Amino acid sequence: MARKKFLAGNWKLWGTLGEAKALATALIPAAKASENRVLVAPPYTAIAAVKEAVKGSPILVGAQDVSALETGARTGEISVLMLKELGVDVIILGHSERRQFHGETDKLVNEKIKLALKHGFEVIYCNGETLAEREAGKAAEVVIRQTKEAFAGLTEADLAKVTIAYEPVWAIGTGKTATPKDANDIHKVIRSTVAELYTKKAADAIIIQYGGSVKPDNVKELMAQTDIDGALVGGASLKADTFIPIIAFDK
Ligand code: 13P
Repeated sequence: MARKKFLAGNWKLWGTLGEAKALATALIPAAKASENRVLVAPPYTAIAAVKEAVKGSPILVGAQDVSALETGARTGEISVLMLKELGVDVIILGHSERRQFHGETDKLVNEKIKLALKHGFEVIYCNGETLAEREAGKAAEVVIRQTKEAFAGLTEADLAKVTIAYEPVWAIGTGKTATPKDANDIHKVIRSTVAELYTKKAADAIIIQYGGSVKPDNVKELMAQTDIDGALVGGASLKADTFIPIIAFDK
């Protein structure tokens, strides 16, 4: 089954209003010329400006996280209701930096996924093993456990709005990419887990992105793998010069 490729830029802690608007605007022609889905996830403060800048183009706009509560005493957090107002299309959840620096657990990620889906958002759900887990031969075991916990209580219909991003923690921002074959092997494990939890049909349809030092010079080989359906890109998504060749990897 043909799965549409999905190229997403996670801007993390980057992007003043001026920078964010300029970058989003520069991506429009490449996104228009592409058959792939394209998303940018600016910091919260730049979402409205980026939404405005890409209006009328096929570029989707994402948020990098959301609170597990709709409203309440959570100083510094942002709610689904606020993201809805901004017209956010997709929410990235469970990123390893949220897990590492903000103590997010699989259980919390599961709650956030359910809340985001309840409010009609698409979700990019991130998982992936640490270097110690990989070296201990536990990469497959870790992503199976994470996927099962993240998807608890989700129906097969819910999965139509969920993309998975496999991001081995040791490959993020380090310049170390998983070899395309190693990445593809874990993508297959994740897809089999979805088949086990739901159906083969659901597993065949779900989009699984790879993330971790994706660059213009390795994107083609990664995207050529049978089970890699896109990329979640950090550093290389911060410049039009490096993100455009990734969006247009098949041109
Ligand atoms: P880099 O592309 O900078 O390695 O970041 C990957 C990532 O964490 C995207 O969410």
